Amino acid sequence: PVRRITAPQIAARKGGDPIVALTSYHAHTAAIVDRHAEVILVGDSLGMVMHGMESTVGVPLDLMLVHGRAVVRGTKRAMVVVDMPFGTYEESPAVAFRNAATILKETQCGAVKLEGGARMAETIRFLTERGIPVMAHIGLTPQSTLTMGGFRTQGRDEETWPQHIADARAVAEAGAFSLVVEGVVEPLAAEITKAVDIPTIGIGASAACDGQILVLEDMLGLNPKPPKFVKVYGSMADQIEAAVKSYADDVKTRAFPSEDEVYR
Ligand code: KIV
Ligand code: NA
Repeated sequence: PVRRITAPQIAARKGGDPIVALTSYHAHTAAIVDRHAEVILVGDSLGMVMHGMESTVGVPLDLMLVHGRAVVRGTKRAMVVVDMPFGTYEESPAVAFRNAATILKETQCGAVKLEGGARMAETIRFLTERGIPVMAHIGLTPQSTLTMGGFRTQGRDEETWPQHIADARAVAEAGAFSLVVEGVVEPLAAEITKAVDIPTIGIGASAACDGQILVLEDMLGLNPKPPKFVKVYGSMADQIEAAVKSYADDVKTRAFPSEDEVYR
């Protein structure tokens, strides 16, 4: 059996070859991603992508466990990181530990991810000192869209940069092994990446980061309205539409099932 990529191995990639990361929520797609990515994130974006929710705020822990298990079962090489959903870690380090431990034990993933900078540093330290690798997430943090008033690109105003850089430093110092930087202007992403000795993994944060992550369904062309920062590499929506239509036509004309698909 191939040993999985570990949190220290990802941490050691600072400033080296870019880290390839993608989300996956599902065994068959994860198996494909596993052949090309070093980190697979079971993101709480699954609430929107898989379950039609308006935001990630309503995602329950159980759903992360279900999809986390599916992705771990479907993969053997990449490090699987599971998002801690809203409401499972903000209250206290002890609550965060309990829920992170549940995620680790129930899914057998390699790390958890949580959103927030300096305000989460104490919790990140509590978890990492007790054996739970933590990926941090700063910049645009989707679990805070209610207080932020929507999905807003961060760092357009240079006066906000010191706070973002302080957030990055705080989570790195607290022991996070890597840091997702989401939805920030390029020069801020570059400053953040320079400010910390752990790899930054960007999404909508330019090539200045030490790695990149995208939501798999976005880059495959399944999202009818992908954000600006997504490069669409596939045309899955069109392919699924065409295949489903062909099937429907075949059923109606009795072209399916044909000789090949019939038991004799
Ligand atoms: O939930 C998610 O998919 C994420 C990534 C976009 C970083 O947090
Ligand atoms: Na997320």
